[in-house]
Amino acid sequence: MSKFKVAVVGAGAVGEEMVKVLRQRDFPMSELTILARSNRKQMIDGIEYDVKETSADAFDGIDIAFFAGTEGARGASQVFGWMAVEKGAFVVDNGDDFRMDPRVPLVVPEVNGDAIANHQGFVANPNCSTIQMVHALAPLHAIARMKRIVVSTYQSVSGTGGAAIKELQQQAKDYAAGKKVTHDIYPAQIFANLIPQISSLRDDFDGYYGEEIKMIKETRKIFGIDDLAVSATCVRVPVFRAHSETVNVEFEKPITPDQARKALAGWPGIEVVDDPAAGRYPMPLFAEGTDPTYVGRIRQDSCNPNTLDMWVVADNIRKGAALNAVQIAEMAIEKQWIGNRK
Ligand SMILES: NC(=O)c1ccc[n+]([C@@H]2O[C@H](COP(=O)([O-])OP(=O)(O)OC[C@H]3O[C@@H](n4cnc5c(N)ncnc54)[C@H](OP(=O)(O)O)[C@@H]3O)[C@@H](O)[C@H]2O)c1
Repeated sequence: MSKFKVAVVGAGAVGEEMVKVLRQRDFPMSELTILARSNRKQMIDGIEYDVKETSADAFDGIDIAFFAGTEGARGASQVFGWMAVEKGAFVVDNGDDFRMDPRVPLVVPEVNGDAIANHQGFVANPNCSTIQMVHALAPLHAIARMKRIVVSTYQSVSGTGGAAIKELQQQAKDYAAGKKVTHDIYPAQIFANLIPQISSLRDDFDGYYGEEIKMIKETRKIFGIDDLAVSATCVRVPVFRAHSETVNVEFEKPITPDQARKALAGWPGIEVVDDPAAGRYPMPLFAEGTDPTYVGRIRQDSCNPNTLDMWVVADNIRKGAALNAVQIAEMAIEKQWIGNRK
């Protein structure tokens, strides 16, 4: 099998997990380069790596580049993403910068993997909250077309990156020691609290914060339904890792919970954990470090037979980021939508 020269750009929460996932899945690599903002040694999963400062030259000869840098004008994707494509790399980007760009397929392999075929060298990973929701909706949408989705999220601090994990740890320590609890990353203390704001307000959707708008727009792009009714409320919770969501979804015709369980259980990457009488349902603590999207609490909406309620949990750094990105590259290789340079 061909082997690829791989770069991971960004060595924070997602970049580190990317390196781990590549190794765990025995990704066909002949070389692995890790790039960030500065040269240094960094321990990742028990191995010391030479992390190099990102530059245009660093992409010479790279076949596949996984971008996990911060977003925005000075972030890795905007500065180096398309440059890497011009140099011949297949880019999979974790950030938000190009997700809605018409040139860029936005992909969850188990949902719309075929979209990768039309790539122009650059494929985007959806937002972590979107990935797990669309993953759980796809098997149901295949039975009865979706009409309307109402989602509320319970998002862990690792979704904000390494600095937010440290902030929650510090706040927990300070609180336990009876010290004054301070905050820097979030608009308020997150320990022992919930913050119904992720990202900032924007003009295009009145009253919605940025993360909610991402869920709405990305879901429409992934399913290819421009007028799909989606509403989202995104909440940051004092959980370290794995996001949870309540999803209320209306279909064009009724689906019973048993039909839904069967369809979900047979879908790649989904694990149904649904025995409410025994107190068995997915929880973020137990999803941490694992690959599936877990679905439970599946029930008919008591007010509408065409509507189901469910509870969806996944590790935001694995399925919500690193794993999904690696799966995109694996699928592109398997289907021969990319090749390595001779
Ligand atoms: N965390 C999640 O759950 C999640 C889920 C889905 C998508 N994402 C997205 O994935 C990306 C990474 O998130 P994260 O949580 O890993 O963030 P993070 O922990 O803050 O790490 C960001 C990394 O990006 C590097 N970086 C920033 N600007 C760069 C540039 N111009 N050139 C090269 N490297 C640059 C940083 O380098 P230094 O270490 O040298 O500072 C750092 O290693 C973000 O776009 C985020 O939105 C995150």
